[in-house]
Amino acid sequence: MKITVIGTGYVGLVSGTCLADVGNDVLCLDVDPAKIKILEEGGIPIFEPGLQDMVRRNVAAGRLHFTTDIERAAHFGTVQFIAVGTPPGEDGSADMKYVTAAARNIGKYMTDYKVVVDKSTVPVGTADAVRAAITEELQKRGVSTPFSVVSNPEFLKEGAAIDDFMKPDRIVVGCDDEQAAHNMRALYAPFQRNHDRMILMDIRSAELTKYAANAMLATRISFMNELANLAEKLGADIEHVRRGIGSDPRIGYDFLYAGAGYGGSCFPKDVKALIKTAAVDAGIHLKVLNAVEEANDLQKHVLANKIKARFGADLTGKHFALWGLAFKANTDDMREATSREVIKDLIAAGATVTAYDPVASAEAKHCFPNELRLSYADNQNAALDNADALVIVTEWKEFRSPDFDNLKAKLRNPIIFDGRNLYDPKTVRGLGFEYLAIGR
Ligand code: NAD
Ligand code: UDX
Repeated sequence: MKITVIGTGYVGLVSGTCLADVGNDVLCLDVDPAKIKILEEGGIPIFEPGLQDMVRRNVAAGRLHFTTDIERAAHFGTVQFIAVGTPPGEDGSADMKYVTAAARNIGKYMTDYKVVVDKSTVPVGTADAVRAAITEELQKRGVSTPFSVVSNPEFLKEGAAIDDFMKPDRIVVGCDDEQAAHNMRALYAPFQRNHDRMILMDIRSAELTKYAANAMLATRISFMNELANLAEKLGADIEHVRRGIGSDPRIGYDFLYAGAGYGGSCFPKDVKALIKTAAVDAGIHLKVLNAVEEANDLQKHVLANKIKARFGADLTGKHFALWGLAFKANTDDMREATSREVIKDLIAAGATVTAYDPVASAEAKHCFPNELRLSYADNQNAALDNADALVIVTEWKEFRSPDFDNLKAKLRNPIIFDGRNLYDPKTVRGLGFEYLAIGR
C-alpha cells in the first residue's frame, strides 16, 4: 500500500518506518527541513532504541522516503496519516494548528480517493474539523474528490516504540464508512499476530479512548505517589505495598511505580487537555483528573523538598550530582521531565548542579540555555566530583548497580536522594549511606 505520514516526530517516524518494514511504500513528510536533512543523510533526529537500523534497512530497500514537498506527499499515499504535534495551548487545551494545517495541505493537492487518518492525540470532534478543512480546500479548487476520515490513536511508549507498534495490545480504529474500514484492516493485518487486535468503533469514541487511556495511567501513578508520601510518614514501604496490591489481578503490577512525578510529551499534556475539553465542551469539572494533575505538579518538587529538608532551605555553596535528565529511561525526550523542576528548584535555592544522562544532555542544554549553575558530565562517575549528595531522577539501567564504595569515596557526604526507588533501602543504608527515596 502507498502511505504518506505527515510529521516525522516520535510517532510519525516510528509509524512510517514500521509500516515500511512490513512491505508498504512509505513517504514521510515534515515541514522542518533540518529533520528531513538528517533523515536523508542516514541519521535520525531522535533517540529511540532500534529505530536507526530499521530506518536504514527500509531506506536501502527503497520502501521508505522522506520529503518536505507537501504536494508530492498529498499525491503519494492512498492512506494519509496525520502524526503532527498537538502541544498544549496557553489555556491547556490541545493546540490544533498543526493538525489543521496538515489537513488543509491534503485538501489543497489531493487528486484521488484518500483515507485521512488522525494518529495524533486529538480532542473529540477533531475528525469533523479535519473533514471540514479538507472539504473547504476542495471547494476552493472546485472539485469534490472523495475521501474518508479515520481516528486511529497511537499507544506507543517512547523507549519501547518499535515493539509497541509492531506488537500492539490493540489497534483502535474509529471509522464511519466501510471503504475506510477495509483499508485499515488491510493496513494493520501484518500487526495482528495470532488474534484480531483491531477494535472498531465510532470516531468520537476512538478519539476519547486515547485520552481516557493516558488519564487512567496518569491517575494510577499519581495515586501511587500519594500513597508513597503517606507510607513514608507512617513508616511503611511503598514497594512492599505495590507488590501486595499488584498481585490482585484486578489491579495488576503495571504502572504502579511511585516516583518523582510523571513527565513526557503525553501524560501531562493529555491530562490538561481532557480537563479543558470536559470543562469547555461538556461543562463538566473532572474532579479526579484535576486532583491527578495537582498531585503530579507537587510530586515533581518532592526530591528538591527532601534535599532542602536535609541541607536547609538555603543551598548556597552546595553542589549536587544529578543522574538522569530524560523524563524516563531509553529516550532523549526532555518534554515535561521531572529533572527540569528539580534543577530549577536547586538552582533557585542557591545550589549548583552537575548532571549526567546517557543521551539527553543535548536536549537538556536547549531547556537551560546560558544556565551557569548547571554543568554536564560525560559519565556518571565524573558527575560525582565535589558533590554534596547524589540525586537520581531517571531510572537508566546503568544507574541500577553502581560501585557503592566509589560513590561513598567521591561524595562529600554519603547521601543519595533517589526519585526512582532503584535500590534496596536496607542494603544501601547497611553500606553507610543516608538513603532518601520515595515512600520507603
Ligand atoms: P513531535 O513533536 O515529536 O513531532 C511532530 C512533527 O510534526 C515535528 O517534526 C513537526 O515539524 C512536524 N509537523 C508539524 N506540522 C506539520 C505539517 N503541517 N506537515 C508536516 N509536518 C509537520 O510529536 P510526537 O511526539 O511524535 O507526537 C505527535 C502526536 O502523537 C501528538 O499528538 C502526540 O500527543 C501523539 N502521541 C505521542 C506519543 C509519544 O510517545 N511521543 C505517543 C502517542 C501519541
Ligand atoms: C505514554 C503512554 O504510556 C503511551 O501509551 C502513550 O502512547 C504516550 O504516553 P510515554 O510518555 O512514552 O508513554 O512513557 P510512559 O512509559 O507511559 O511514562 C510516562 C511517565 O510516567 C514517565 O515520566 C514515567 O517515569 C512515569 N511512570 C511510569 C511512573 O512514574 N510510574 C510508573 O509506574 C510508570
